[in-house]
Amino acid sequence: MSKIEFDFKDPENAVKLSFFLGNGQVALVTSCDAQKKVQGILTASWITPTSHFPLLLSISVGNGKKGSEGDNYRSSYGFIEETSEFGINLPSKELIEVVGKVGTLHSSQVDKYAKTGLTAMESKIIKPHLIKECYLNMECKVIDEYVTGDHTVFVAEPVLVLLNEDVLADGKFSEKYRSKHKQIHFGDIIDLWNMW
Ligand SMILES: Cc1cc2nc3c(=O)[nH]c(=O)nc-3n(C[C@H](O)[C@H](O)[C@H](O)COP(=O)(O)O)c2cc1C
Repeated sequence: MSKIEFDFKDPENAVKLSFFLGNGQVALVTSCDAQKKVQGILTASWITPTSHFPLLLSISVGNGKKGSEGDNYRSSYGFIEETSEFGINLPSKELIEVVGKVGTLHSSQVDKYAKTGLTAMESKIIKPHLIKECYLNMECKVIDEYVTGDHTVFVAEPVLVLLNEDVLADGKFSEKYRSKHKQIHFGDIIDLWNMW
């Protein structure tokens, strides 16, 4: 599926995109070290838009340091601290098993692309790769961060947004991608793992 660039600076598009990002979908957050040697992926449900104009969003990432390997250890936290960049990639329902797997492994220990079969795509502006199989990809730069207990909230601005070419129909997010049956929400993973 080819990708098209989405003009998120257009005010109407910024609002539509913020609605889309704010409806509770699970994202795959991509990040890497400064040398681009390790490309990481983190499953994230704590992601939300925080502003329409300019369009801003936040992600909350466990801030346990390497070596502690506690419950809040995330390789991705170190990568985002190092580069101040990350990618947001929205997976659709077919990828639910992969999303679960990505959320249980550490990128510092395994190559999650090799492990899951996801395809890395070079970004245009940021260092971290994007994920080809995801239907929405955003390149983001961190502009602020707040320590909130055992997670750190990174506030970021998008610098590039790509959509699979069939995501928009007549300038609107098509029903196919708006549908809850197509998207992955946190509860779907909890159902999958029978953890309620
Ligand atoms: C459905 C789901 C949602 C998750 N949401 C978050 C989140 O919002 N923030 C976070 O730090 N970790 C979250 N996690 C946990 C990380 O994805 C997990 O710890 C992962 O192994 C970290 O990978 P890394 O070490 O490569 O960064 C979530 C996991 C799952 C399965």
